[in-house]
Amino acid sequence: MEPSLLSFQALPFIFLLFHTSLVAPQTIDTNTTLFSCSANSSSSCKTFVVYRTQSPEYLEPGDISDLFGVSPLSITRANNLSSEEGAFLPDQLLLVPISCSCTGNQSCANTTYQIKEGDTFYLVSIYNFENLTDYDVIMDLNPTLKPSKLKPGQEVIIPLYCKCPTNTQMDQGINFLITYVWQAGDEISKLSEMMNSSTDAIATENNYRDFSAAAARPILVPVSEMPRLPPPLYTTTTAAHHKPKSNRTIIIASSTVGAVLALVLCSLLVLAYFKCRPKETIIRKGSSLEAVDLPGSKKPCNDQPASPMTKGDKLLAEISQFIDKMAMFENKAILEATMNLDEVYRIGVSVYRATLNGRVFAVKQAKAGDVKEELNILQIVSHANLIKLAGISYTDADGDFFLVFEFAENGSLDNWLHSKSSSSNSASFLSWRQRLNIALDVANGLQYMHEHTRPSIVHRDIRTSNILLNAHFKAKISNFSMAKPATVGMTLTSDVFAFGVVLLELLSGKKAMEAREGGEIGMLWKEIRMVLEDENKRKERMRKWIDPNLEGFYPMDGAISLAEVARACTAENSSERPRMAEIVFNLSVIAQSCTDSFEKVWMPNSEENIQITNSVFAR
Ligand SMILES: *[C@@H]1O[C@H](CO)[C@@H](O)[C@H](O)[C@H]1NC(C)=O
Ligand SMILES: *[C@@H]1O[C@H](CO)[C@@H](O)[C@H](O)[C@H]1NC(C)=O
Ligand SMILES: *[C@@H]1O[C@H](CO)[C@@H](O)[C@H](O)[C@H]1NC(C)=O
Ligand SMILES: *[C@@H]1O[C@H](CO)[C@@H](O)[C@H](O)[C@H]1NC(C)=O
Ligand SMILES: *[C@@H]1O[C@H](CO)[C@@H](O)[C@H](O)[C@H]1NC(C)=O
Ligand SMILES: *[C@@H]1O[C@H](CO)[C@@H](O)[C@H](O)[C@H]1NC(C)=O
Ligand SMILES: *[C@@H]1O[C@H](CO)[C@@H](O)[C@H](O)[C@H]1NC(C)=O
Repeated sequence: MEPSLLSFQALPFIFLLFHTSLVAPQTIDTNTTLFSCSANSSSSCKTFVVYRTQSPEYLEPGDISDLFGVSPLSITRANNLSSEEGAFLPDQLLLVPISCSCTGNQSCANTTYQIKEGDTFYLVSIYNFENLTDYDVIMDLNPTLKPSKLKPGQEVIIPLYCKCPTNTQMDQGINFLITYVWQAGDEISKLSEMMNSSTDAIATENNYRDFSAAAARPILVPVSEMPRLPPPLYTTTTAAHHKPKSNRTIIIASSTVGAVLALVLCSLLVLAYFKCRPKETIIRKGSSLEAVDLPGSKKPCNDQPASPMTKGDKLLAEISQFIDKMAMFENKAILEATMNLDEVYRIGVSVYRATLNGRVFAVKQAKAGDVKEELNILQIVSHANLIKLAGISYTDADGDFFLVFEFAENGSLDNWLHSKSSSSNSASFLSWRQRLNIALDVANGLQYMHEHTRPSIVHRDIRTSNILLNAHFKAKISNFSMAKPATVGMTLTSDVFAFGVVLLELLSGKKAMEAREGGEIGMLWKEIRMVLEDENKRKERMRKWIDPNLEGFYPMDGAISLAEVARACTAENSSERPRMAEIVFNLSVIAQSCTDSFEKVWMPNSEENIQITNSVFAR
């Protein structure tokens, strides 16, 4: 730092003068002085930049994490967001974690950006990165690229302005210097309050620059601990934005006037539901990510992430990138909880039930190298209908470790549908309502994976044994070992087909493919075409085909509608299969028509002997 500035710092009243704008101090060039570092300093640090959400491209946590090349979870954590999905409103402040160090005589954090059509260094610096960088430093760092001839797909290293606190500052309790882009209209007192930094410290750190001339320039905010920015406001989009277009909606068959009436009412209800949602769109997400932080586990939010390496534990490079983002468990604790992986605790292929820190989990044994992709995907996804990864364990000497998942008390769906032991617990079958809810849960989970993650994810192994039911029979998709990002050659329609088969198993109680009486192989997706084939006979055929365990406790129209959705999903030509959004919509309509309020509307008009009951539930 220049000597003249040091003497300035010694005079506290100077700041007061600047603050009251009585004196206009000199402007100091941001890019040369503020973020400079001495070339021989080897200090590097984890710090944060403040990013403003902006429409249309940078509203979702995933978009912002992609831009900065960090994990979505690290953003969720840094900002104490609940892990539910959702897009932000524009202009919300988010902390983005970066690793800062010295390059040449400037300190910066590198991130990689892929050029898109129409990009220039200038636009990328002012729009995408919101002046957290400058075009000239981008140019300097990418000497091989011709600024005037950028091609889409080219990768550019973007240096983000940042700075690490000096030892002197650390001694004074300043642990982070946060990069913030000053906005016209900002006030230093408000900023200091928001960041819990002192106004003095901000003025000093920024060389007493004239903030009124700093609009759109990055400044540094010295803080003692990671700031808590105001909780960002969300706009809930799921239903409203992805409402399927009516022309592509699967027609829900209904022959009787009553059923039509019921459907109209249903649609109104669904529409009303969607209409109501915008009212709730601006909500404060408060619930903390602490949900995955288990008793006794480290809470990395407040301090600089402590190294999770403990003595004697080995961590493979493949998974080390996840260590500061997840709860960590000791192998020893897991082995103890399962009595050395005793058969008694086994609930699936290399999956065991384990009580850790007083909570029950499902632990899955894995080899570090084998589950890299699965881990990558598990940390992108977060949805109530996908099984949650609660943490992982340290690898042992053989490179084995455990994935620790939330536990689903009621096990997998196939056990409920195809249980052979009908004599011992004949009462344990799923009611119509439960089956509908399970279908809707799975559809919601898949829609999330297909349409709300970036990139989209194909599960590739949807089947009843991979659908788990929790204590309240809420369905959760599990087993992401086959899942892949939906890039070229990976289509979402295979999941749609598999989902259709799950629907057929829910309806029939039969396995997707099995030997039927007479030795022939029955395939549900072929059988359903025969059932639905003849308009006049379909009800009779359906009655014979549907799961006898339902004992007639289901609405025939609902069953036919569900079968039609399943038939559409299992269309031979994959391009004819509906998208998950349409499926969710149709299932919602079917589920709505099954509520008490519609009983009276359609019951008398239906010639079927339909009995609706809400008291018949599995066990
Ligand atoms: C950065 O510094 C260079 C020279 O050091 C100067 O020409 C340029 O205008 C500065 N950029 C900004 C945005 O202040
Ligand atoms: C950097 O090098 C200069 C001169 O060699 C030295 O005076 C200074 O103390 C060094 N700074 C650090 C942080 O090592
Ligand atoms: C940023 O990238 C440049 C060019 O690849 C490299 O020289 C520099 O060391 C990197 N800086 C950091 C902090 O990673
Ligand atoms: C930083 O380095 C560049 C060249 O590497 C040099 O021209 C410039 O004067 C240096 N700036 C400072 C503040 O040392
Ligand atoms: C603000 O920072 C001071 C230390 O600088 C700390 O003692 C205080 O607890 C912080 N307040 C909040 C609300 O974080
Ligand atoms: C970045 O700088 C440009 C040009 O000065 C300005 O138009 C833009 O509003 C700035 N963006 C932010 C987020 O400050
Ligand atoms: C995170 O948010 C929750 C819910 O608003 C709050 O109770 C909790 O104190 C917050 N955590 C931190 C570290 O601020």
